Amino acid sequence: MNETKVGVFLSDCGNQLSQILDFDALVNHVKQVPGVALVVKASEFWRGEGLKTIVDAIKGKKISRVVVAESLPKLSEIRVVKAAEEAGLNPYLVEVIDLKDHCAWPHRDTPSEATEKAKAMLLAAIERAKLLEPIEKLEFPITKSVLVIGGGIAGMQTAEDLADLGIKTYIVEKSPFLGGLATRAGRFFPTDDCAICIQSPASDVKTITHTSRKCVYRSGFTEIPNLNILTNSRVIAVEGATGNYKVTIEKKPRYVNESKCVGCDLCTTVCPVAVPDEYNAKLKKRKAIYMNVPNVHPPVYVIDENVCKFHDCAKCVEICPTKAVELDQKSERITLNVGSIVVATGFQECDPSIVKEYHYDEYPDVITNLELARMIDGFGPTSGEIIKPSNREPARRIVIIQCVGSRDRRWNPWCSSICCMISLKHAMLIKSAHPEADVTICYIDIRTTGREHEYYYERAREMGIKFVKGRPSEIVHDPETDMLIVDVEDEILRRLLELEADLVVLASAMVPAEGTKDLADMLGIELDQDGFFKEYNAKLRPTETKRRGIFLCGGATFPKDAPTTSLHAHSAAMKATKFLSAGKVVKDQKTAVINEEYCGDCEFCPVTCPYGAISLVPKGEEHFVAEVSDLLCEGCGICVGTCPVNAIELRHARPNQMSAQMKALVSVNGTGKPLILAMCCSECGHTAVDSSGMAMMQYPANVRVMKVPCTGILQVHVFLEAFKAGAQGVMVVGCKSDGCHYEVGSQKAQKKVELAKILLNEYGVEPERLMMHNMVFIEGADFAEAAKTMTERLEKLGSLQLTDVS
Ligand code: FES
Repeated sequence: MNETKVGVFLSDCGNQLSQILDFDALVNHVKQVPGVALVVKASEFWRGEGLKTIVDAIKGKKISRVVVAESLPKLSEIRVVKAAEEAGLNPYLVEVIDLKDHCAWPHRDTPSEATEKAKAMLLAAIERAKLLEPIEKLEFPITKSVLVIGGGIAGMQTAEDLADLGIKTYIVEKSPFLGGLATRAGRFFPTDDCAICIQSPASDVKTITHTSRKCVYRSGFTEIPNLNILTNSRVIAVEGATGNYKVTIEKKPRYVNESKCVGCDLCTTVCPVAVPDEYNAKLKKRKAIYMNVPNVHPPVYVIDENVCKFHDCAKCVEICPTKAVELDQKSERITLNVGSIVVATGFQECDPSIVKEYHYDEYPDVITNLELARMIDGFGPTSGEIIKPSNREPARRIVIIQCVGSRDRRWNPWCSSICCMISLKHAMLIKSAHPEADVTICYIDIRTTGREHEYYYERAREMGIKFVKGRPSEIVHDPETDMLIVDVEDEILRRLLELEADLVVLASAMVPAEGTKDLADMLGIELDQDGFFKEYNAKLRPTETKRRGIFLCGGATFPKDAPTTSLHAHSAAMKATKFLSAGKVVKDQKTAVINEEYCGDCEFCPVTCPYGAISLVPKGEEHFVAEVSDLLCEGCGICVGTCPVNAIELRHARPNQMSAQMKALVSVNGTGKPLILAMCCSECGHTAVDSSGMAMMQYPANVRVMKVPCTGILQVHVFLEAFKAGAQGVMVVGCKSDGCHYEVGSQKAQKKVELAKILLNEYGVEPERLMMHNMVFIEGADFAEAAKTMTERLEKLGSLQLTDVS
């Protein structure tokens, strides 16, 4: 085995740090450390001559590990690691520490203490470097195709973008026709243009102009090369992993051959079965064989198998001039191999009958906004006339009630975000067609936050639409006048009102689409607290999920208006394209590794892993061991923190590496104050320390920082080990409990800290020697304050005697 030779490169940052740290003492200290083969001090090492010094030392085989103390640690790390790799050294054999922001700046008033702390920091980096192991890059091939689940405007826009970019794309829609809610909405606010209008595909060479937008049915969408459309189909199984999914689709029979049907409508003229048309708010009937209008795609009839009499009737078969009706069609299973999946399953209107006081199921003249949209639509069941469904008489007194089942803790606490604008749109369309109509909107707050939305609201007021601030307590039906009375307290006038109405419209909550939970389980992705698909990070990584290669768009993540949906759809398409374009997933193998000798049969790690990277596989008879997928593992170490028998390690944070680091950090004091080990996660926790240093905030030099991948890696025994090593206090500094970069790490750490406190108490050690903190970058002042407070607390507690902790 080759001897480990550590090269240590000390930057004084253009002589800035020499004003505080005694570099001669540091050099002399480091030279004594076994394994150190080279010590160089210079102005900087992340570029120019300094970087060349490192490269030459590697190429000349003088060193096999690199420790660099440099300012701008992240930038330095990127440059040094890249140069080291190009010089032939594995990048994981390089350690970079920050003597400026973590030592010199926060302790500039106590230079000798700062120098002693710097010695400890350097020793910790050297000891860790000696134990580091090379980590390889792994490559996993990707299938260059995408499945888009959901054929509403979000799914169609994403699919169009992807297919236009030359990526083989499948779009799967569970209903018989594309279009989703948009086809029923008629018009979209704030432009009041057609809801089924989309951007023309680039491949539509004959008609495309820079500003082209078209109705879906004439957009050429269905003719885009690379796009395969599956309607009446649903996903029933998803196997495989990132970049290579095998998806099983069940395609239900349409009973009409898509390649033969010419849409002549003869079939519906002979079909004897008529049922209420759900698509048209049950305000008219449709036949057992039918096509939705307006049609988006395909322009082909479908048979409703729940009501058709099939061979007992077969009139449609007889009359069809192209022999397109095929009553013996069966379901088929289709297997797709795709590299990426985009979920665009949208949202749906909540059934408002849950709000008993509005009697939606009981009074036919109480309808929902979506049902009103069908009435307003010229294609709709009333050809645009606003009527009382109970007697089909014109309705001219209309009350719209906002937030039905939304912003209501009994049902759905969230604001559905688009209902105010939908109601304003409907009210204005009614007023435009019938200026004499009396339209009132009862609201809690009118939310018009989007571009031009406030002007829309202004216009509605100018048109004479009335607004009553208050949530109605009840809708009552007066049998004598056949009128509806809406009881509401006007919060502004402070008066109880009884609003007479021919028609009451409920702006029902928008809720996750049916089947959302099942699909999330199939895909292994999460839902948020409201049951919508959860984005990885709404600010920084919208449309992404925790699973690489699976993306979200449109109303699947939350109700959205059309412009936002369109943006979201383009974003998902761009991200899926970016993911696929490399042709492979390249990942460092800084993943978890199982010691099969110790591992056995428990299910803690598979259940805990946020990425589903661990599974149990049989090993011998009736024995199971954990197996880690290097493709899925993100290297957080939460499994390590969970394993009860220490059978899992992370390749880049093995227990011996952490232990050596920990001991070194508390091996030198030089402050006269009790030593504190601050175990900081590599993300927000560590950056909080960075920011306190950057801002030159002062805290005592007895506080020593140890970086761990995520606080979720920490086990109870690690805290005890820290005390045994000489720490008088331990601070665990992680991300906010709902902001861990690996989802649950800081929550797990919090629990471990609480458990450890109980144990410490048992040992007679004051539990307040161990504290958990949750911080983000901008809370550097909090870190400095916490460090001071902990120091003062430990000074009051006195020295820790650890004879009982073993
Ligand atoms: Fe910060 Fe998990 S990454 S606590």
